Order: sequence, then C-alpha cells, then structure tokens
Amino acid sequence: MEALKGFRILDMTHVQAGPTCSQLLAWMGADVVKFEPPQGDATRGQLRDVPDADSLYFTMLNCNKRSITVNMKTAEGKAVFVDLLNECDVLMENFGPGVLDRFGFSWEKVHAINPRIVMASIKGFGSSGPYAEFKAYENVAQAMGGAMSTTGVPEGAPFVTGAQIGDSGTGLHLAIGILAALHQRNRTGKGQYVEVAMMDGVMNLCRVKWRDHQRLWHGPLPEYSVPTEGEKTTPRAGNDSGGGQLGNAIQCKPGGPNDYIYVVVQEAVWEALATRIGGEALAKDARFAKIGDRRKNQSEVWRMLTEFASNYTKTEFMAILNELDVPCGPIMSTEDLFVDEHVKLREMMVELDHPKRGKWWNVGMPIKLSDSPAKLERSPLLGEHTDEVLKQVLGYDESKVAALRTAGAFSLPPKKAS
Ligand SMILES: CC(C)(COP(=O)(O)OP(=O)(O)OC[C@H]1O[C@@H](n2cnc3c(N)ncnc32)[C@H](O)[C@@H]1OP(=O)(O)O)[C@@H](O)C(=O)NCCC(=O)NCCS
Repeated sequence: MEALKGFRILDMTHVQAGPTCSQLLAWMGADVVKFEPPQGDATRGQLRDVPDADSLYFTMLNCNKRSITVNMKTAEGKAVFVDLLNECDVLMENFGPGVLDRFGFSWEKVHAINPRIVMASIKGFGSSGPYAEFKAYENVAQAMGGAMSTTGVPEGAPFVTGAQIGDSGTGLHLAIGILAALHQRNRTGKGQYVEVAMMDGVMNLCRVKWRDHQRLWHGPLPEYSVPTEGEKTTPRAGNDSGGGQLGNAIQCKPGGPNDYIYVVVQEAVWEALATRIGGEALAKDARFAKIGDRRKNQSEVWRMLTEFASNYTKTEFMAILNELDVPCGPIMSTEDLFVDEHVKLREMMVELDHPKRGKWWNVGMPIKLSDSPAKLERSPLLGEHTDEVLKQVLGYDESKVAALRTAGAFSLPPKKAS
C-alpha cells in the first residue's frame, strides 16, 4: 500500500515550486486533485517542444495527479471549491500574495469550513515582513536568499545555480511541513497553516555560508582559495569545497566543457593520492604534509592534479581515484546522466507515455520507500478528471454537473464582442 494512501490533496499550485511538492506527495500515494483555472496552469503552454501537447515543464511536474478545471471567479465554482475543501485533507497553493484572500478564502475561512484541513502555502517572502507583497520566481529567491552572492568566482558576476533550490527546494520544505501538520492533525483532529517562503528555503539551503559569515568575525577562512582577510561577507568561492576538506574541479582529457572531475583531497587519502601522482617524493614533501600546509599551497596541489589528469578522461581518472578511495565525481552532463547505467538502475530516468506527446522521460522518485515504491504515471490533460472528481469525490449526479457546466463553473466566460 502506498504510504499516503487515503490522503486527498486539493492542489491549487502552479508553475514549479508548488507542483514539485504535490507530485512528490502523489508519488507517495496521495490522491492529488490538481485544481486549475479553466485556461490551465500557465506552464502547460510554456516552452512547448511539441505543438498542442502540454510542455515538458508541465508534464515533468504534474505526474500522478487528476486535473479538474474550476472557475473561481463564479459563485458556482466557489461552491464546488467549498465542497472539495470538505473532502480533502490538505489545501495547497502558491499564488501571488493575496490571491486566495481575493477569492474570499483566507486561512481563517478555510479552517472554519473544514477544521481538519491542513492549508499549505508557498510565497516568495512569506505573509509577513516588508517583502510580503512581492511575487517571486526561482532566480529572485536565489538572489535574495544568499545563493547568488555566494555562487561564482569572486572577480566575476554572481551566478544562479542550475539546481532549482528556490522552486523545487521550497517544494521539498513544504512537503515536510505538510507531513508534520498531517501527523499532528491525526493526533489532535485540528488542521493548521503551513507556510514556506522561497527566500527562507534558500537561506536554509545556504546554511554553511552563514557558518562562514560568522567565522569571518574571528579571522580569515583558510580553506578558501581566495583571500578572505578583513572580509565582512561570505565571498564567492568558485569550486572550493566549502567543507572541512580541500576540493576542486580538475580538468581532464580532452578538455571539453564538462571534462572535469571534482576531487576531494580528503586528509585520510593524501598519502596514497600524492604517491600516485608524484611518487614518494611528493608524499613526503613538507609543503603538503598536513591539511593546513595543503590549504596554504593549494594552487600547487590543483596544478599537479591537473597536469596528471590531462592524460586521462574524467571516467578514467575516476577509476584511478576510486582505487585509492579518493572521494571524487566526474562532472556529469545531462547526456552523461541520461545514458548512465547507475541512473538507469536507480530508476532516476523513467519513460512515460502521453496521449498527445507520445514517449517522454521524467526524472524519477528520489525518495525510495521499501514498502511503497513509487509508480510514475503521466500528467493529466487539462480538466481530464473534472467529471470523475465531481461524481466520485463529491457525489454530484449528471444533472448537477450539467447545470454547473451551463452556469460556467468550469469555463471562462465567452469574450464580449468588441
Ligand atoms: C509565480 C507568480 C509570480 C505568478 O504570478 P501571476 O502569474 O501573476 O499569478 P498569481 O498567482 O499572482 O495570480 C493568479 C491569477 O490566476 C487567477 N486564478 C487562479 N486560479 C483560478 C481559478 N481556478 N479560477 C479563476 N481564476 C484563477 C487568480 O485569481 C489570479 O488572478 P487575479 O490576480 O486576477 O486575482 C506568483 O504566483 C507568485 O509569486 N507565487 C508565489 C511564489 C511562487 O510560488 N513562485 C513560483 C515559483 S515557480
């Protein structure tokens, strides 16, 4: 049995941050009813690669959900929403500030309708504080949560990271909050409001940068390859390891954009590594004897490793380093990963079918539950399950559904002739 079987989620989320969370919960077995405006989640049409088919942006974030379209700007649509609130365990949304309030459904109102329901919101900056009224996207959160100022090289511009820590990272935080609130609800019978701000989520993921921020009050950071004497703010550190061990990305043969391997020169492996790349003389060289010495002379460590690596591809060099028990990882391109045997075995790329786009691939479920493995199913077409949900979840009969449809509960009003 799936872990979350029996829990139903009314999922008003859109774009990435919310849907990434509800998809994970769906993969754990929750019945996720994606509640969309009549025109659908905007991402259905964004960055389309196949004409008239939902974009990969949408399909990759909305698997295992049922889609229902409801126009919340009609009285009938709002009545359907209220009925659904009474049949769901969780309400999720990541609208811009104030949208749900403008519909007339603040947390207080939702709680009054169904005291057991957990309401979960993502906002760019939360519902309090000077930034509360602002909208946010991924890179806005990375900019404001401390990720961009600490990513890149000191002499260059700040950079965003490729991982969606602002959107998907916040979705993960929300999933944890929802599960905790459900756990408490099951004990007390009372739902609560769960809020995650994207800026807060990014700050949480930048925790070690805050460690370094405070260490600077007591002196420079010796593990950084750039000088930090007198710095007040955690600098960008290129590919420095950022931890207690030295590390860097080392270029390999034949020198293409991803022909690099990340090598952690762990204290325990230095002697074996030094012997392999420079013989006994290097292993005994006093300039590199202890980690403190290697930190001081790290540019020479990276130069020697790069010279040695120039004879090997990243996978060949990985094999050499693995034999020595040196923690390392080749820089994997998306193509490297797509064809990788390990990725295949871990089911981290999963092939799915879709009525309009045909075969496509999704990134698999990263959380592996031994008794309830995730079974990935394609994303729904817009409104595919409207009738099914109205009848099966709400018990509406055919004539009630037809009357609501005629009243415009599931569609946009016709455009006025100009
Ligand atoms: C992502 C974001 C910037 C998008 O902004 P946006 O496209 O202007 O969308 P908003 O969420 O502000 O508003 C949604 C609109 O759809 C309407 N809408 C949503 N569901 C609807 C429904 N079922 N029926 C009718 N209208 C609906 C809302 O009423 C609102 O319109 P309004 O402004 O006229 O009230 C914004 O939603 C946001 O900041 N969200 C919080 C942070 C976040 O999650 N960011 C996403 C990162 S991927």
